[in-house]
Amino acid sequence: MNDYHRQTAYTREGLGGHALDWGCQPEPFKRYRQRQPIPLEPARPPGAAFLDLALAWPPPAHDPAGPLDAAGLAAALLLAAGITARAWDGPEAPGLRAAASAGALYPAELYVAACGITGLDDGLYHFCPAGPGLTPLWDGPLAAALGRMLGQTPSALTFALTAMYWRSLWKYRGRAYRYCLLDAGHMLANLELACAAWGHGQRTCLDFPDRSLNVFLGLASDDEAALALVQAGPRPAQPGPENPGLPPLDRQALPLSPRVGRDATVLMAHAAGDLEGPGGTRLWPSLRASAPPRPLPPPQNGGPGLLATVRARRSRRNFIPGGLDLAALSRLLTAALPAPGPCQATLLLGPGGEMPAGAYLHLPQERALALLKASDQRRDLAQACLGQLWVGQASMSLVLWADLELLEERGGPRTYRHAMLAAGRAGQRLYLAATALGLGCCGVGAFYDQEVAAIAGLPPTAQPLYVLACGPIKGGMR
Ligand SMILES: Cc1cc2nc3c(=O)[nH]c(=O)nc-3n(C[C@H](O)[C@H](O)[C@H](O)COP(=O)(O)O)c2cc1C
Repeated sequence: MNDYHRQTAYTREGLGGHALDWGCQPEPFKRYRQRQPIPLEPARPPGAAFLDLALAWPPPAHDPAGPLDAAGLAAALLLAAGITARAWDGPEAPGLRAAASAGALYPAELYVAACGITGLDDGLYHFCPAGPGLTPLWDGPLAAALGRMLGQTPSALTFALTAMYWRSLWKYRGRAYRYCLLDAGHMLANLELACAAWGHGQRTCLDFPDRSLNVFLGLASDDEAALALVQAGPRPAQPGPENPGLPPLDRQALPLSPRVGRDATVLMAHAAGDLEGPGGTRLWPSLRASAPPRPLPPPQNGGPGLLATVRARRSRRNFIPGGLDLAALSRLLTAALPAPGPCQATLLLGPGGEMPAGAYLHLPQERALALLKASDQRRDLAQACLGQLWVGQASMSLVLWADLELLEERGGPRTYRHAMLAAGRAGQRLYLAATALGLGCCGVGAFYDQEVAAIAGLPPTAQPLYVLACGPIKGGMR
């Protein structure tokens, strides 16, 4: 998997641009041949503040914010993957979604298996943000079947996040698998927060038997695949049979374009991480800093609600000079990376804030930063991000990285999916935290990998996964 990441690194010599085939531009929505979506119930949005949810992570048990019903489910689906804005004025303008997406190509799709939800028949559904609606794919209680597949107690809701590779491949070719994982991580962050706000308990599952789950969801194996699952809600009273029989056959989707391309690099990268059974608990390598860490103050919660924050979130690149104080840094970093995981963060700070300009290692367990280099690296970073100069204007950039070799050695090739999904999740949470604080944020997937690694002072065996720029913006609230 380390090999896939290295193979798809951008270099100044090997960017290999290509013309986009506009006749084959992929459809942004998945539609089924013989099945029509049913409209979503009017959503009952949760009231919790985004920062209250994001800073107390993993979510502690609390009283549910509403019953397990179709209105609560509608809110969770819209918060995860709904349309929240238009790219420009007018009904024909493409929808921009709740979660950021590389190139606004939206390769990630969302499914839900519901069991014992008031106002919704038991079954498997596909969520279509256009409408928005739920396409019924399989009738009946499927909670026990899914519970068995995942080696977990059956739950009232099982959400599945998948990727349709062609949407991203069309533009990004072999590097597309990176974006599919990062995008799915962005959507996963929103879904996890929505479930936390609903308050019926939740569990994210990234290790599952791929072949069985893809068949269960009715996915065309070479074009799309499940990447992440979230179980929510208690064990249903009638979870259904563990072996529900063969899935229905009449759930083929329309092709995304007249020609749908495939890429062997992407297929092999995904297949390398496949599992045959459910996974156990994972332990991630911990970080050690060479310089004495400087603690950040405890982050303050409060601020706008989750719904308002998700609706207001956009990729903003109009950064203006101005440093971040320690209180803002603490909120941003704790919300984005509340606990140690498979991906690490190095922070590049410009001048004008409470911390001197420089590169810092983020230590989530200590809630602290350790100095790596005492110089402002942001202009070099902008050049390394394919010359996207606005990156250099942002007060802070986050380089999310992992030692992929070490992860694979300890936990097998599936760890690549864990690391990239974790990077996407952290990215979405940083976007939301920035929005809640009146700051701007934008993800950067296009960078010369080795240059970013050198600028961020990564260990020799580590590789950058994702970059995000963040800071005060023109017209912002600060
Ligand atoms: C994984 C990822 C990589 C991205 N890379 C870039 C990038 O290199 N340059 C850029 O200007 N925007 C980048 N973006 C931002 C997207 O263009 C943006 O999310 C998309 O246009 C949708 O707009 P929205 O975020 O305002 O909803 C990236 C977003 C994601 C999730």
